[in-house]
Amino acid sequence: MPTNITQVVEMQRLHIHILNKIAESLALKGVMQMSAKIIIGTQFGDEGKGKIIDCLAEDSDIIARFQGGNNAGHTIVVGDETFKLHLIPSGVLHKNKTIVIGNGVVVDVKILNAEIESIEKRGHKIGNLKIAGNAHAIMPWHKAIDNHEEKLRTKKIGTTGRGIGPAYMFKAGRTNAIRMYDFKDEKRLAKIITETIEKNKDYFRRINYTCTETDLIREYTAISKKIKPYICDTSILLNKALDNNKKVLFEGAQGTFLDIDHGTFPFVTSSNTVSSAACAGTGIGPKRITEVLGVVKAYTTRVGEGPFPTEQENKTGERLRKEGHEFGTTTGRPRRCGWLDLVMLNYAKNLNSLTGIVITKLDVLSGLDTIKVCTTYRTGKNETEIYPLDLPDLKEAKPVYKELPGWTEDITVVKNYEQLPQNAKDYLKFISERLSLPVKFISVGPKRSQTIMM
Ligand code: IMP
Repeated sequence: MPTNITQVVEMQRLHIHILNKIAESLALKGVMQMSAKIIIGTQFGDEGKGKIIDCLAEDSDIIARFQGGNNAGHTIVVGDETFKLHLIPSGVLHKNKTIVIGNGVVVDVKILNAEIESIEKRGHKIGNLKIAGNAHAIMPWHKAIDNHEEKLRTKKIGTTGRGIGPAYMFKAGRTNAIRMYDFKDEKRLAKIITETIEKNKDYFRRINYTCTETDLIREYTAISKKIKPYICDTSILLNKALDNNKKVLFEGAQGTFLDIDHGTFPFVTSSNTVSSAACAGTGIGPKRITEVLGVVKAYTTRVGEGPFPTEQENKTGERLRKEGHEFGTTTGRPRRCGWLDLVMLNYAKNLNSLTGIVITKLDVLSGLDTIKVCTTYRTGKNETEIYPLDLPDLKEAKPVYKELPGWTEDITVVKNYEQLPQNAKDYLKFISERLSLPVKFISVGPKRSQTIMM
């Protein structure tokens, strides 16, 4: 036992030293360092994931996409430059990062090639890009089918027309599907193109899709030469990286309610957009995941058709669209706008096992006298906190709002939480408490510097 003050201090020093050693060795073994974070959209997409991923990419070794294709759109602002990306993961603009296009993505190789060229033309280097060999390709006929099917629908989905659905259809159908591995072998690629055109010629004629086989083969062979070096087994790459305590960021596209199983079917995209898709879409196991962050726009938007209970088809909606620049990155379509919906977000919390949330575009709400948040739905005489998955029930659901006081201050210059107006803090607190989730970041503008870390 220590007998005097010097001995007590010495003992404490020793304890701290031992604790530091334990922490160091745990970090070396990866217990503390390994991180596999998923960033997911909690609404209908366009939550501002691109900027958040871009910010988090700084502290990551690998950024991987796992589903969707060039139906997505990320706007990233770096200094005075604005980049609009659709396929390449958002982390591409950081130096010394590996960026992965996982097997769950459908890849329009022409778009991929164009994005690589446009980034390079602007003086930025494409880092260590890796494309999963088992990812499927979007081909021109997929786009033709997508547009044809949309025309035939009496109730339009409002697809982006990028061929996403048909590419996944061919993948699930297991005939005439083209994978990235096929681009490594020009003869194999040419054979599949020929077989596909031959087998589907009547159908292609019916939907007015015309092409010259030799031109197509020439064009895609040329592209294959460019993308070949990037193609590999990205599952092995990611698992090895995680074994070596690298930090991996999984970049979700679209949003939870556009998920093909859990979204507002049929007004959804053709892939699983929920967090669990990060595993199947990259070839890692669920035990690897250490964090799931849900990106929540401070209000709700939707592009394309489908139910949207808190939609404001009025001056409020117009104001949100104008102040939030709510026009699609991919198609330029005006986004439908409405209030935040906690019924949806609570459902999204469970679907994704969210561990925290990121609130984006909080600045867009500045200047509103009151801000409404939907807390429950009224269906007939009942009030419910449960999100109805059956479309007719959802269409009937009337949002019940809690009104919170707004703020007038410009918050785009705010650098830390303490500087936010009290009413903005109360808005964040209300959301966080209702979801029982911590707010990890708050975005108050498009620039990297306009991000408040909690
Ligand atoms: P698809 O994914 O092109 O088949 O479109 C299906 C639906 O998802 C349409 O309503 C699109 O507007 C919507 N959608 C697809 N990708 C995105 C996205 O990145 N953000 C928002 N909506 C999207």
